[in-house]
Amino acid sequence: MKDKKAFKPCDLVIFGALGDLSRRKLLISLYRLERSSLIEPDTRIIGVDRYPQENSGFAQITHTSLQEFLHEEINDTVWERFSARLSYLQMDLTQPDQYKQLHAAIDPKTRIMVNYFAVSPFLFKCICQGLDKSGILTEESRMVMEKPIGHDLSSSKEINDEVAKVFNEKQVYRIDHYLGKETVLNLLALRFANSIFTTNWNHNTIDHIQITVAEEVGIEGRWEYFDKTGQLRDMLQNHLLQILTFIAMEPPVNLEARSIHNEKIKVLEALRPITISNVHEKTVRGQYTGGYLKGKSVPGYLEEEGANKESTTESFVALRVDIDNWRWADVPFYLRTGKRMHNKRTEIVVYFKQLPHNIFKDSYRDLPPNRLIIHLQPNEGVEIEILNKIPGIDEDIKIQKTKLDLSFSETFKQHSIFGGYEKLILEALRGNPTLFLSREEIEQAWTWIDSIQDAWAHINDAPKPYPAGSWGPIASVALLARDGRAWEE
Ligand code: BG6
Repeated sequence: MKDKKAFKPCDLVIFGALGDLSRRKLLISLYRLERSSLIEPDTRIIGVDRYPQENSGFAQITHTSLQEFLHEEINDTVWERFSARLSYLQMDLTQPDQYKQLHAAIDPKTRIMVNYFAVSPFLFKCICQGLDKSGILTEESRMVMEKPIGHDLSSSKEINDEVAKVFNEKQVYRIDHYLGKETVLNLLALRFANSIFTTNWNHNTIDHIQITVAEEVGIEGRWEYFDKTGQLRDMLQNHLLQILTFIAMEPPVNLEARSIHNEKIKVLEALRPITISNVHEKTVRGQYTGGYLKGKSVPGYLEEEGANKESTTESFVALRVDIDNWRWADVPFYLRTGKRMHNKRTEIVVYFKQLPHNIFKDSYRDLPPNRLIIHLQPNEGVEIEILNKIPGIDEDIKIQKTKLDLSFSETFKQHSIFGGYEKLILEALRGNPTLFLSREEIEQAWTWIDSIQDAWAHINDAPKPYPAGSWGPIASVALLARDGRAWEE
């Protein structure tokens, strides 16, 4: 998976270094990588933003961010090493002549320039042009960007076209931070390193699959962005579809980026379109009302700060997804994601088929199906539910549901479990594109999502209310109940 040639020092330039993404995620992840001595010793981090600041001021802001978001004590020795890498440039990114100072600050002869675009997409074009005109870029330079890469197919194409004028596809690293999460990556190992799963991963043995990404958080100061976006575009177009592609793809030829991207694209191409004709039976949109979370009262979506009381944006989505290929014929995937749900839980549940005949009827009238449960967060792990005989010398064989339970933190005590950003930033510094999204993947995902969004706009139904702290609207229960199934609760 690793491209050994690329282990060179980098000049990591963070555009938007004082912004939320940088302070909450990027700088924290970089510090964690430093703590594990994973950053090349000569790599430098250059923060760029529009506010005046000294190098020492940027270091101070970074330190304060660590105190706020690291959730552990800052180690003095690690901080000393880390802060020595930091420098800051004040730039107006819309002014091409300002890129001269960036030119003077980097060293393309000894370091690879990695440009992290942690800014709003409307600045992408200016940055690309500024970098290009100043002649800083080399063939080795990279750019890292993340969602939102557009809000539909055509806006995503516009962004990708601008970027493509300056960077070729191999230089572009599009982040979906879920692809850096340990358990998402483990899907590759689970599926393609274990014969019990490789041989049983299809419509012959699997009944259906559920993917839940439930969040406790509400909108919290992001109302304006979120209200234009909604949960379908904010979470499903990217994170849930990415998980889906990892579960559903065919075995890639190897772990190279091209092989994995090819297989993921095939899954996206096989998604059965959701259109006006089937949107009612296949989708549920919800919006939270006031309620209780962990005993505390929380406001509804329309009562959040800055809210437009008329908004019909969804904060919850549930879908039935069908994949039209041989492997997944008649195996529905049920996806749901929402804000302000009962608790934070991201998991995949694979329901295997029920046995055709039960010889243990006296003990268990309906043998429940085996289930594989993959916990992505908060506690990473894998469980398999199997049926076992209850020990005893009774005449009857009594059966009970039991769990083979592999908790990552227990089993891999000696290994640190890194977050998605750490893994992906490191891979961008190393020059390994495997876990990043290709342009084709993003555009294919938008094509499918646009059709749902258009159908919703056409039918113009209000989202179904659900109280904060619940598992979503009743209609999402009905979505599965219609097929004789129920969500994992
Ligand atoms: C982001 C979304 O991409 O992912 C947020 O924009 C969401 O709305 C977040 O809260 C969830 O990420 P995680 O890693 O906490 O599950």
